[in-house]
Amino acid sequence: MNPAVRRFPGAVPLTEAALATVTQVAREAMAARGRFALALSGGSSPLPLYAAMARQGFGAPPGATLFFFGDERIVPVGDRRSNFGTISPILFTPTPIPVGNIHPMPVEVRPATLAAETYEAEVREALGGTPDAPPRFDLILLGMGPDGHTASLFPGSPALGETKRLVVAVPPPTTVEPRVPRLTFTLPLLNAARHVLFLAGAKGKEAALERALADTPDPAVPASLVRPADGELEWLIGEG
Ligand code: 6PG
Repeated sequence: MNPAVRRFPGAVPLTEAALATVTQVAREAMAARGRFALALSGGSSPLPLYAAMARQGFGAPPGATLFFFGDERIVPVGDRRSNFGTISPILFTPTPIPVGNIHPMPVEVRPATLAAETYEAEVREALGGTPDAPPRFDLILLGMGPDGHTASLFPGSPALGETKRLVVAVPPPTTVEPRVPRLTFTLPLLNAARHVLFLAGAKGKEAALERALADTPDPAVPASLVRPADGELEWLIGEG
């Protein structure tokens, strides 16, 4: 399906629009299933959204929301490069969330392949699904790097060809910082989502954006491979 694309002059209107989408999707999930399964994105673009969610609420009670991570850098939680460590004080600390509803990726588990298997099992246990049908997040938030990567799916990565596993370990990227090993959702899990919301600033990403939004998916731009089979795909782009 073709994405719904909206462009904004700056971070404030983009954050308002992102919060409106999260709120609408969360309300629909609560009405349909009585819970909201959300996967958070790393990177800097969604941080104002997380602050707004903590400040204003987001359409589902925190106690009925499951917070997962679409990718993580394999560094200690206290490291400034940790997605969980970065997001936690902005979204989790100010929000009364039962600790069992927060699902950080298990970066302490070694080897990383076992960490990926462990997280996949955690996703399956929380969301259900069958071995043949990946579980469906209500909403997956994503960003995109200037090289076209999304989550930690990088151009040329064998992880792009994954058809069965839902979470995999990948080596450090060579195209962007931080160059540390990662854990990431795979395309089968991303594309099973009910709604995928990309947040991206256009600056420095113009070429990748054009290819990500083109009709024909391009493996050189992994973000273009995210096309939910039976869900909504939305891009909010900051031009400021
Ligand atoms: C990560 C990500 C990654 C991120 C993009 C965009 O952990 O690095 O989840 O895919 O979303 O690199 O990052 P910015 O929003 O900082 O540009």
